[in-house]
Amino acid sequence: MNDPFPAELIERLKAARHVAVLTGAGISAESGIATFRDADGLWARFKPEELARMDAFLDNPKRVQDWYSHRRTVVRRARPNPGHLALADLERVVERVTVITQNVDGLHERAGSSRILELHGSLERNYCVDCGRPATEEDITGDAPYACPTCGGMIRPDVVWFGEMLPSDILEKAFAAAASADVFLSIGTSAVVHPAASLPVEAARSGAFTAEINVEASAVAPYMDVELTGKSGEILPELVSRLSPS
Ligand code: OAD
Repeated sequence: MNDPFPAELIERLKAARHVAVLTGAGISAESGIATFRDADGLWARFKPEELARMDAFLDNPKRVQDWYSHRRTVVRRARPNPGHLALADLERVVERVTVITQNVDGLHERAGSSRILELHGSLERNYCVDCGRPATEEDITGDAPYACPTCGGMIRPDVVWFGEMLPSDILEKAFAAAASADVFLSIGTSAVVHPAASLPVEAARSGAFTAEINVEASAVAPYMDVELTGKSGEILPELVSRLSPS
């Protein structure tokens, strides 16, 4: 059988001191969490303009809070899949691994990755839009609408909505990681949402060896040195097992 991995990818990974990875919803698909833009994705079933915008939240906080509570329940029931676990394992063979994720599901952390940059926030964090106080589990339990016990303001998830800026410190670290990585992997993302989608291009421009792992070519495929087509939960464990000293 032909080796699915180009020799240069294996060599570059073995020699790498810093591997940076950008992940999107596709890496969590095998954990049973819906992606956004696939045929059965969230944006095919829900309207982003009603759920992921500040004006939609102000218009109908309960609808937005209910939707995020539902998503939080789904991810809490889910488990990291072999793709997340393989990225955590990569830390055993590469000195520095930076996982930059667009996902808000916390599965990289639960899988054991230690250097994670959450570009779009986390379903596990909520805060009051008026006083900024972080919400406790108690504040978001029971029926929405959820209000801040301190000031009565509405509680929102700490995720980035359309029209909002990404946290600047995290974004800065992500671009620095892309620019300094020896190898950059773009995994399970359609790479159409910026600025996250600029990271693989930044890495390629800065001289990293780049590879995409996706069930189909994404928008950044033209910038990649290698295209690995298939499920990340299957490809990543196989790839990482090839790097361990035998
Ligand atoms: P998308 O839904 O846009 O893309 C998911 C990608 O995963 C697609 O390219 C699929 O081909 C791929 N895919 C699906 N299953 C896979 C598997 N098992 N293995 C590997 N790849 C697989 O999700 P994102 O790119 O993450 O933003 O979307 C980016 C952002 O758009 C999200 O963070 C979210 C959304 O609007 C915000 O909420 C701010």
